[in-house]
Amino acid sequence: MTRTIKLSDGKLIPAVGWGNGTGGLFGNQEDSITSGIEALKAGSRHIDSAQAYQTEEAAASAIKQSGLKREDIWVTTKISKTDLVPTADVIRPIVLERIEKLGSKPNLLLIHFPTVPAPGKIGAFWTVLEDLVYDGTLEGVSLGVSNFRPQDLEDVIKVARIKPVVNQLEYHPYVLSHLQPVLELGEKHGIVTESYGLLTPLLRHPTGGPIKPILERVAARLSKETGKDIDVATALLLWCLQKNVVAVTSSKNPVNLRKQVEAESLPPLMDEEVKEIDEAGKKVHFRHYTMHMTKDFSNPDLPEDL
Ligand SMILES: NC(=O)c1ccc[n+]([C@@H]2O[C@H](COP(=O)([O-])OP(=O)(O)OC[C@H]3O[C@@H](n4cnc5c(N)ncnc54)[C@H](OP(=O)(O)O)[C@@H]3O)[C@@H](O)[C@H]2O)c1
Repeated sequence: MTRTIKLSDGKLIPAVGWGNGTGGLFGNQEDSITSGIEALKAGSRHIDSAQAYQTEEAAASAIKQSGLKREDIWVTTKISKTDLVPTADVIRPIVLERIEKLGSKPNLLLIHFPTVPAPGKIGAFWTVLEDLVYDGTLEGVSLGVSNFRPQDLEDVIKVARIKPVVNQLEYHPYVLSHLQPVLELGEKHGIVTESYGLLTPLLRHPTGGPIKPILERVAARLSKETGKDIDVATALLLWCLQKNVVAVTSSKNPVNLRKQVEAESLPPLMDEEVKEIDEAGKKVHFRHYTMHMTKDFSNPDLPEDL
C-alpha cells in the first residue's frame, strides 16, 4: 500500500515521489516517458515535474501509457519562470499552460524558487495563486513552495489565507544544520518538507562523510532482519520518511525504482539510528544545489567533510 503524509489542507501525499527531471538525468522526453512508465509499473504513485524541466507532458504521457487512472497518481508541477509580475493577467495563463501540458490539474502546484515572483513580490504572488483557487481555476489543487529560505516563507505567511502545504528543499543530513531555521518555521505553520537531492551524501559528497558507516550498519541490520538486500540509499530514504519528510527522489534503473517503492513497506529505523544520523549529519555542511540558498541565509561554519 502507498505510504502517505497528511498535508495541512487534509490531502494525503504519497511519501515517496519519483522526479522526472533535473540535472540531465533524462536526456530527452522519450527517456522521461519510458522511465515514468517503469516507475509507475514498479508501484510509484507520485510524479514530480516542473515547468523548468519541461517534464509535464512526459508525466501525463507516462500515466496514460501505464494504463493507470489519473486520479490514482499524485502529480506535482512548479511555476519556474522568474521575475513574474504578480497580476492575474500574468499568472493565470502560466497556470493554465501547466494544466494544459499535464492534461489535468496538478495535485500540487509549487512556486519553484523565491525568484519566480519579481523582487519584493512574493506575498503578492501568493495572493494571486490563492485567488486562482477561490475563482475555481485551481480548485482542489494544493499550493506550496520550493527552495524558500526563512525570509521567503515569512513573506508568504504574513499574507496567507491558504498556508503553503509544502516547502520542497534540498534536504539530507548534511544540510540539517543550515536548514534548521526554515525547518522550524515550516513545522510551526504545518508546512511539510519535501526532500530533493536526498542521495547527495552518497552520490555527490566525495567520501560519503560520517553518515556513510552508520547507513552501512543500518542497511546490514535491515538486510539481515528482512532477508532482503537493503542498500545504503534505501537506508537514507527510510531516514527521510522517519522525519515525516516526503522523499522526492528519482531513478531510471528498474532495480533502484523497485527499491524505492519497496522502501515504503520496510520496517522503520530505530530511534537511536535516526538520532545518530542526525547528529553526525549536523556536524557537516555539504550542499549540491546551491542556487540562491545561501544568499542572505548564510552557511553554517562547518566542515564539508570530517
Ligand atoms: N525543487 C527543485 O528545485 C528541485 C531541484 C532538484 C531536483 N528536484 C526534484 O527531485 C528529483 C530528484 O532529484 P535528485 O536527482 O537530486 O535526487 P536524488 O535522490 O539525490 O538522486 C537521484 C539519483 O539517485 C540514483 N539512485 C536512486 N536510487 C539509488 C540506489 N538505490 N542506489 C544508488 N543510486 C540510486 C539515481 O540513479 P539511477 O538512475 O542510476 O538509479 C538518480 O540519478 C528530480 O527529478 C526533481 O523532480 C527538485
